[in-house]
Amino acid sequence: MNHQEQPGFVVWMTGLSGAGKTTIALILEEELRQRGLKVERLDGDVVREGLTRDLGFSAADREKNIERVTFVAKLLSRNGVACICSFISPYNSLRQHVKENVTNYVQVFVDAPLDTVIERDVKGMYKKAIAGEIPNFTGISDPFEPPIAPFIHVRTHLQTPLESAGKILGDLEDMGLIPPAVV
Ligand code: ADX
Repeated sequence: MNHQEQPGFVVWMTGLSGAGKTTIALILEEELRQRGLKVERLDGDVVREGLTRDLGFSAADREKNIERVTFVAKLLSRNGVACICSFISPYNSLRQHVKENVTNYVQVFVDAPLDTVIERDVKGMYKKAIAGEIPNFTGISDPFEPPIAPFIHVRTHLQTPLESAGKILGDLEDMGLIPPAVV
């Protein structure tokens, strides 16, 4: 498959903070580059330092955050870029908006139980949220609506990040969106 033929698509990873979205996205990014694809990765923590620096975590601000990212993902995916997006995107309405606006939307639920992400507490934010120091924190004081089918479901408390990435890559191959692995 050469670059002209590469279909653009958006792997949209949704899930709680600390579920493993970024870790899996980094593995996917590397692997897709190895396979000769044009790749761009958009990540909540990074995007919120630039493009959406002015936004917080109210429902209205989360909506604006996802709307702006969708705009970027739309431009990339319609120009043949493999776009890997990792955002909590906690409401079904947000994910529906992405689906309606990008080329080849592939929804991935990066799933880990709340107990697990609280225990991991990679950024120390759950401790603060439980103590009431961070308002509107997803899973603690703000809802997370599990995605509605169809979606790829990876369970990061039962699988390694490599296994989760492998599952996503296999499904992308089956959908005809990416070429097989280079051996
Ligand atoms: S989204 O809801 O708008 O999709 P996004 O993925 O961009 O969220 O950002 C989530 C990241 O922001 C989390 O991983 C965490 O590091 C940080 N964060 C800060 N405050 C909150 C909050 N109230 N709820 C969730 N995440 C928060």
